[in-house]
Amino acid sequence: MPSGDPDDEYLVAALEHAGLRHVWIPWSSTDPRSLGDLIDVLVLRSTWDYTDNYPQFMQWLGDVDVPIHNPLGIVQWSSDKRYLLDLAAAGVPTVPTVIVQAADQEWQPPEGFAEFVVKPTRGAGSKGAKRFAAADVEAAREHAIELISSGSPAMVQPYLPSVDEGSETALVHFDGVFSHSITKGPMLSRDGVRQMVDDLYVVESIEPRQASATQREVAQRAIAAMPMNDTQGAPLYARVDMIDDENGAPIVLELELVEPSLFFAFDPAAADRFVAGIRVRI
Ligand SMILES: Nc1ncnc2c1ncn2[C@@H]1O[C@H](COP(=O)(O)OP(=O)(O)O)[C@@H](O)[C@H]1O
Ligand SMILES: [Mg+2]
Repeated sequence: MPSGDPDDEYLVAALEHAGLRHVWIPWSSTDPRSLGDLIDVLVLRSTWDYTDNYPQFMQWLGDVDVPIHNPLGIVQWSSDKRYLLDLAAAGVPTVPTVIVQAADQEWQPPEGFAEFVVKPTRGAGSKGAKRFAAADVEAAREHAIELISSGSPAMVQPYLPSVDEGSETALVHFDGVFSHSITKGPMLSRDGVRQMVDDLYVVESIEPRQASATQREVAQRAIAAMPMNDTQGAPLYARVDMIDDENGAPIVLELELVEPSLFFAFDPAAADRFVAGIRVRI
């Protein structure tokens, strides 16, 4: 979205209030090697078309001549949900995930669940994510093959039914410090029917939600497990999305470190916290 998403109005107001200048730069039509003439730091915001142009976007970022936030290594790592395996290996509770890399790879639906999900490892805005009944394995295999042939590995997870009761919670952090949280309604209908915005993302139902102490603790563990190097400190922004498992314990669904909606409207001070983080990076 070349001039930000509706959420970014708050960011622009906070930047202006802080006396910082900004310019929106559409990545796909700007030379990354001349950004230094325009800006001191690049903050990624609404690059929601990058999953359809993945190699081009990564190449573009690689050529950028100013500091990028979040840093390129974090963008590379977190734009492919295979990082869930890294989080799990680091002891962070995560949604159980099987990666399907190749069309001829054998895989089974997760045992003990009425439904499961097949989605791209490189995806955003719920695009390409589908929900299947446990018996519907053939259709699910076809979907996985379709994802792989359109350029992204696929991943298989149990469909965690607590999502339907509103358990999905997004915890927004600036500089590694918890800021605010929201809840998101279920995104995947059984019949696969969905309403898209600009062919970029599925319409969402967002409400305020106070994160629990356990959710905040899981989010901190996920942030601590991110591959930041010693000089980078904490990421400028990190959204940790979680849902409840079958015992009601929060587990990580995904990390949003590239271009997340940050739901500034739900906390009047949130955009100022983001801007404070930008300021120390100039
Ligand atoms: N394992 C799962 N169980 C229940 N719902 C899921 C699961 N995986 C994805 N979903 C639903 O699909 C949406 C999109 O999936 P997500 O993993 O957040 O990918 P992205 O937001 O990057 O497209 C989630 O917000 C959730 O509603
Ligand atoms: Mg999501």
